[in-house]
Amino acid sequence: MTSKEVRQKYLEFFKKRRHAIIPSSPIIPENDPTTLFTGSGMQPMIPYLLGQKHPLGTRIADSQKSFRTVDIDEVGDNRHTTFFEMLGNWSLGDYFKKEQIPWIFEFLTKEIGIDPEKLYVTTFIGDDKNNIPKDTETAEIWKGLFEKAGVDAKDVEIGSEKNGYELGMQEGRIFYYDVSKNWWSRAGVPDKMPVGEPGGPDTEMFYRFTDLAHDTKYGKYCHPNCDCGQFIEIGNNVFMEYKKNVDGTFSKLPQRNVDFGGGLERIIAASINTPDIFQIDIFKQIINTLERLSGRSYHDQKYTASFRVIADHVRAASFLMADGVNPSNTDQGYFTRRLIRRAVRFWDKLGIQKGGLAELVGPLLNFYQDSYPLVYEKREQIKDEVASEEERFRQTLARGLKHFNELTGNLITGQDAFILFTTYGFPVEVTQELAKERVMKVDMGEYDKAMKEHQALSRSGSEQKFKGGLADHSKQTVQYHTTHHILLKALQSVLGPEVHQRGSNITAERLRIDFASPRKMTDDEKKKVEEIVNQKIQENLPVIRTVMKKEDAENFGAEHEFNANYPEMVTIYSVGPKDATIGEPKIKEAFSIEFCGGPHVTNTEEIAHTGVFKIIKEEAVATGIRRIKAVVV
Ligand code: ALA
Repeated sequence: MTSKEVRQKYLEFFKKRRHAIIPSSPIIPENDPTTLFTGSGMQPMIPYLLGQKHPLGTRIADSQKSFRTVDIDEVGDNRHTTFFEMLGNWSLGDYFKKEQIPWIFEFLTKEIGIDPEKLYVTTFIGDDKNNIPKDTETAEIWKGLFEKAGVDAKDVEIGSEKNGYELGMQEGRIFYYDVSKNWWSRAGVPDKMPVGEPGGPDTEMFYRFTDLAHDTKYGKYCHPNCDCGQFIEIGNNVFMEYKKNVDGTFSKLPQRNVDFGGGLERIIAASINTPDIFQIDIFKQIINTLERLSGRSYHDQKYTASFRVIADHVRAASFLMADGVNPSNTDQGYFTRRLIRRAVRFWDKLGIQKGGLAELVGPLLNFYQDSYPLVYEKREQIKDEVASEEERFRQTLARGLKHFNELTGNLITGQDAFILFTTYGFPVEVTQELAKERVMKVDMGEYDKAMKEHQALSRSGSEQKFKGGLADHSKQTVQYHTTHHILLKALQSVLGPEVHQRGSNITAERLRIDFASPRKMTDDEKKKVEEIVNQKIQENLPVIRTVMKKEDAENFGAEHEFNANYPEMVTIYSVGPKDATIGEPKIKEAFSIEFCGGPHVTNTEEIAHTGVFKIIKEEAVATGIRRIKAVVV
């Protein structure tokens, strides 16, 4: 099956079951200070899973662009990618297990045509410590479905992954695992979840490549969560009905939710029974182009991993840039830089003499012409940016290699790795790979420490630094969020209406806004902006949430993320006028109007009680992009 067929079949399947189909959110989360990238389809849904009403109802489905930085080093094997599309469907307090499980089974076996004999599932064994019961209901539902399809469906208890390698398959079909495998939240296992974070037991589906033998390098026996490659996870139903309380216990959310996510690329691979996801249609053109340029074959094992790294990284970098993230040394842009530079190294490993990485952008994005027209439209711009980044890297590559070759012994100190990065632009993966080739090691502990001290990069590892949700609906963070809206409007009043937001990051301690503007602000301008913000805060303006047609919101001139693909119905927040009410929001007279998912304070007086708004820093972060850090104290 092709990617287009699978994506379309999925969305149609859920449309028929009365789901609203929404476009993918940007890969850079909006209004979520806790994470750099959208790593799963549920991230933009957090407020609705917690109980806020979704403008399109209680049944939603989409195909979401997702990026997971944690997989960057794993790319090169047959099933890991940094960027992927996640097929998702949600019940927001609507249907639950007995609808969702049969639907997904039907979708995979009937629509996609996967042989039920090759399908294996896992479910939650329970968590005594947190008083969360074993999910026998899910196992029973699966059992009924498999038996009806004429497939034996014995259930077996595994527990931990480690137990899996000792116990093996035991002729099972349904496998009970513990919290480490069958519990899902953005932060992982229950103990790691911050207060207020939603999560729940899940049931995962695996496709088994029955032709592949188990590799005992991974453990004595194979089991669905074994990493040898015989099993590939193709979908996950999370029954998101719990929330972590302040005292560390768990209680039920006000509504029972379903959060399904399935990797599009993996489902396609399973549908054609290939364990190598780089063999699916999406990667065909880019791999063919690379074969032509290098004169080497993808199937020559010496080069397969290089082909895969280049294909994945060019795709991921292209999608990041399409959402406005150009290579830089900070935040999200640092990932785009790492992807391109790592791809350059693998390009060189293929021994390609002529041309550059940018030549792959066209063949790759041609493929997405129909499914992601906005990305396709930007192909020339993306191509130029890839070419410039390659050029910048190559300018220092030779010098960096010279420096690298002067290092002796078998350990590269963290300080040297850090210098290789700051002076020669070597992302640490590149240093690690060069070290590996020369049987050397990198002191990553020391390197990480040096990086942390390097202020500009302090947020580059934020996926690991996950603190706590938009979910951190803490009073301070919410106040900063509203202040952020007021600040943007104040900047437009002082610097001009063409000023738009390019990024934001809000914590309980401060707010940060990136915006497009060609020059440094003068002291006078900063003072004016501060005055406007403080004045508005002190006017005790009501902050009102309204759901309306996208068109209407645009007509109101509501501020929105550039290039984002919004659904038909949107939520906007307006600040002021003073006599606005929920029933009569008087949006036309509002001071600030933005497309936004919230949450916000209900009146600016809450902010005024906290203190006075103050800009603490105004600086450049990239060409034409300024950054303001501000506090209310
Ligand atoms: N949110 C779930 C996941 O990402 C579906 O696996």
